Amino acid sequence: MKKFPDNFLWGAATSAHQIEEYSCNNWSVWEKKNAKKWAQSATEKWQLWQQKKFPEMFEAENYISGRATEYYTRYEEDLDLAKAGGHNAHRFSIDWARIEPREGEFDSKAIEHYKNVVRAISERNMEPFVTLWHWTHPLWLEERGGVLAKDFPEKFAHYAHIMAEALGESVKFYVTLNEPTSYIAGGYIAGKWPPGEKNIFHMLQAYKKLSSAHNLAYDVIHKQQENVHIGFTNILWRFKPSKNTLFHRALIRFAYYFTNEKFLRMTQDHNDYLSVQYYFSVTLSLMGIVKEKNTTFVTDLGWLIDPKGVYESIMFLKKYNLPIYLTEDGLADRSDMKREKFIRDNLAQVHRAISDGADVQGYFHWSLTDNFEWDKGFWPQFGLIEIDRKTLERKPRKSFWVYKNIIDRNAI
Ligand code: BGC
Repeated sequence: MKKFPDNFLWGAATSAHQIEEYSCNNWSVWEKKNAKKWAQSATEKWQLWQQKKFPEMFEAENYISGRATEYYTRYEEDLDLAKAGGHNAHRFSIDWARIEPREGEFDSKAIEHYKNVVRAISERNMEPFVTLWHWTHPLWLEERGGVLAKDFPEKFAHYAHIMAEALGESVKFYVTLNEPTSYIAGGYIAGKWPPGEKNIFHMLQAYKKLSSAHNLAYDVIHKQQENVHIGFTNILWRFKPSKNTLFHRALIRFAYYFTNEKFLRMTQDHNDYLSVQYYFSVTLSLMGIVKEKNTTFVTDLGWLIDPKGVYESIMFLKKYNLPIYLTEDGLADRSDMKREKFIRDNLAQVHRAISDGADVQGYFHWSLTDNFEWDKGFWPQFGLIEIDRKTLERKPRKSFWVYKNIIDRNAI
């Protein structure tokens, strides 16, 4: 039996736009603009086995978040389920667009709502982890350039200040930004996420803006409360070279720097903990990411399942001597045939890293329920709890109970 440290935090992670109904932000506009195109191009994007298994990918409706899972009004029901699953922590995000729908106007009802969510989490004896920006912001800001707007960092820090003041001592853990480098890659290199650009100069600017937004928010929140723990969540990629040459190894070093390291360096001395969000390993060639041929050890999205990356990601962060949380770890697996093994294998790697001296203090599975998977829409299902798309009925999957058992024993 592999025991985890006492007081280890166990939970699930979610994000506002992916579950809350009728959001009105940069992403809701983006998805409406692109839904048809995404449905029409599904044949080019996905392999035959995926097209057959998930025909919803051909429907424009799949790509509109709409009522999502109605978490905004049904959060208590979902938090009851998290508690029934044994969770002692819960990660969720606040939609900035609800809080500040017009510049400088803060909506007291929306603030009250999130205070109630935090209260509901604490009442169920779970530690709230509050994310302030999970890729969505108000439309007035998007119209001014979004992340690249001149005053994005200051506006973000002000919103962070308002929320930290409202939530007070009930929150001990803040995530300023979720996976900034994924947003930068999607929005400024691949052009598939808002604002849909392919522009290296803007990409570099986005690194600057987002890192100073994080740093400023860190200072502002700490000025109000010394004893909170603040960090950002970081996607960590595992790259393998398509050929074992010096050139290919250098290429990987370059990619690794931009994805895994650069943001960390730009926020040095402004992190109280570090985060691991690891989803897949990829093979890289000069032409980019090589299409995955393996169809066995992959998720429904075709992402290669490679648990060693969990260990490597944690060990990469160990040298910073800060507590580490796995703030997301999960897979799209509608049939739930792979999730149990995935959780066990990945946790075995977490345990191995702890045995080798890494200070890992918590694990959040992605996600509590099925949700809206951004430009892929609803067909990929990441939930420990299944959501019936028609009735929105919640049904815990078998893996939900497996995870509970692990939590109850604090061991695998
Ligand atoms: C994001 C989530 C997303 C998950 C699966 C993470 O990068 O933070 O919002 O749903 O990956 O793609």
